[in-house]
Amino acid sequence: MTNADPAKLAAAKNAVARISDGMKIGMGTGSTASIAIRVLAERINAEGIKVVGAPSSFASERLARSLGIPTVPVSALGQLDLSFDGADEVSPSLDLIKGRGAAHTREKIIACSSSEFIVLVDDSKLVERLGEKSPVPVEVLPMAVEFVNEQLRKLGGRPELRMGKSKDGPVVSDQGMWIVDTHFDSIIDPAALDRSIKSIPGVLDHGLFIGMATAVLVGKSNGTVKVLTK
Ligand code: 5RP
Repeated sequence: MTNADPAKLAAAKNAVARISDGMKIGMGTGSTASIAIRVLAERINAEGIKVVGAPSSFASERLARSLGIPTVPVSALGQLDLSFDGADEVSPSLDLIKGRGAAHTREKIIACSSSEFIVLVDDSKLVERLGEKSPVPVEVLPMAVEFVNEQLRKLGGRPELRMGKSKDGPVVSDQGMWIVDTHFDSIIDPAALDRSIKSIPGVLDHGLFIGMATAVLVGKSNGTVKVLTK
């Protein structure tokens, strides 16, 4: 793990140290969650602990399997003991924006299935108010995208269909849906926006994670970790 970002690695190591033998683990998606998956694999190899992991994306499933971590769909595991994941923004009340990797729907199912949902970030993800830096990714049924965009505009958002970088046309999620990145100038009431977006027909889910994080681990480049809890 010599080339891993030191702040992300510090947060990942802190999270993995909380895992005990026999636990059912939720595994997030993204660069920070991937580091945590690698650190978990190292612990399994070094200490022989037995865990089973529920991955939040095809990407995390492939990574975990390649490292020898047993994976099972979250629906087969029921209540998880602990999940770890990254985030795009963290507010002072530990609400989150997630979904840069378009995995937020499965990530939210995993977060809500877990006794502990541990979020791994560096300082750059901490904001005063959600929406400062990142759009809210909304996962949408393709045939409903124009209708959903219109409803998002009525909520004050500026929706933008996420386009592929190494593929022509829209990004297609692991569920076969499209992603509409929606910019809001200021999210004053994240819980109300959460409910409003969720209630639009054609929306599968979105990247606002309200009241879900049990702890946020803020890794620093010197290897220390600040633990934020409510
Ligand atoms: C993927 C996510 C990621 O967890 C989030 O984008 C953070 O990623 P990274 O750790 O690479 O900054 O929500 O859908």
